[in-house]
Amino acid sequence: MKGVERTSRIKGFYKLSPRERLEAVKGFAHLTDEEASMLTNTGALPLDTANRMIENVIGVMPIPMGVAVNFLINGRDYLIPMAIEEPSVIAAASNAARMVRDSGGFRTSSTEPIMIGEIQVIGIEDPYGSRFKILSNKGQIIEEANRKDPLLVSLGGGAKDLNVRVLEGQPPMLVVDLYVDCRDAMGANIVNTMAESIAPIIEELTGGNVVLRIVSNLATCRLARAYAKVDKEVLEGEEVVDRIVEAYRFAVKDVYRCATHNKGIMNGVVAVALATGNDTRALEAGAHSYAALGGAYKPLTVWEKDENNDLIGTIEMPMAVGVIGGVTSVHPIAKIALKILGVKTARELGEVMAAVGLAQNLAALRALATEGIQRGHMKLHARNIASMAGAVGEEIDRIASEMVKMGQVRMDLAEKLLLDLRSRGEQLKRPN
Ligand code: MEV
Repeated sequence: MKGVERTSRIKGFYKLSPRERLEAVKGFAHLTDEEASMLTNTGALPLDTANRMIENVIGVMPIPMGVAVNFLINGRDYLIPMAIEEPSVIAAASNAARMVRDSGGFRTSSTEPIMIGEIQVIGIEDPYGSRFKILSNKGQIIEEANRKDPLLVSLGGGAKDLNVRVLEGQPPMLVVDLYVDCRDAMGANIVNTMAESIAPIIEELTGGNVVLRIVSNLATCRLARAYAKVDKEVLEGEEVVDRIVEAYRFAVKDVYRCATHNKGIMNGVVAVALATGNDTRALEAGAHSYAALGGAYKPLTVWEKDENNDLIGTIEMPMAVGVIGGVTSVHPIAKIALKILGVKTARELGEVMAAVGLAQNLAALRALATEGIQRGHMKLHARNIASMAGAVGEEIDRIASEMVKMGQVRMDLAEKLLLDLRSRGEQLKRPN
């Protein structure tokens, strides 16, 4: 689209038709005609590509992909592609992003993209002596690991360090942690290959037997962080700020609430991960184990008040994501999602995802601490029912809002309201 300002603040985006929204996104992200038509082709993953991705393929399972608007992160506008089957998530993210935007936008940071590979060694009589031998040969071991991926090394990545832990017990075992900078790849394959490649040296040095050689999803060296300040006026008063902080404290104190609190965060994180072809299970595993790292399961976010009684939210979590390799490079929709995001590095993607997780949590806590979340859910549900009853174009919104006002969302009611509306003969806009 020519002459469109490059902003993610698109008013009334939700009111547009899918085609109109796509036009706006196409202009924002400079998608080609082919890319745009790929997005609307619900069978866009060719069967032979699918067949190369996993085993025993029989077809594909399409789920909706939408775009969250209003995200301003480190002064830059982002449209966020999210693939998810759950209603309200994208609306919630967009709403929260607008609140944060009105207060200056998100700030983010991250660590280097370092993953940990674990090598388990058993059958050792002298675990501390073996630990000493491995650490004394660190340079040689790291060199061996790096022989497996000269390209990654040439890009500044590769194995960087190792550590050895003794797991006490009868008998004790050793764990060698290999730290690999994966640059823009998620890196599980790289790490697994390197871990396997150094197993023989470790056996030779210790006389023990290596059993497991595998990446850890608790990616404590690959963290993404986001910060948001929300002015109390944007939240319609200090009382709402207090209620959000209380809602957060509930999650700190109660593990049952905390599970749902973190689930809401992962609604956003996982939806972006899925849209961009990243491993959603790795992220879930990392997030929840990180949340429990201190011995008790805790929220991934923190909400507090600053000296002006404005709301301050922060998030820190493992973010093992990539923008090259794996599905991100194979799946045509994942490639387009990355183009829409416009992220250049895995770190940038991880930081954006942290901001989305924080936004999702803000939206949930604000709704839960005020009107409850059912009102928002009801609106979308009502629109679905109206459309199933045969309403089209503007009729859908009219009937949906009448049902919400009446506090009843039912098919028979939607059909009756549609009949009434049409018999009144009002001129409403219909889709082309
Ligand atoms: C629903 O998918 C997510 C929420 O339950 C999150 C939360 O309660 O914080 C709304």
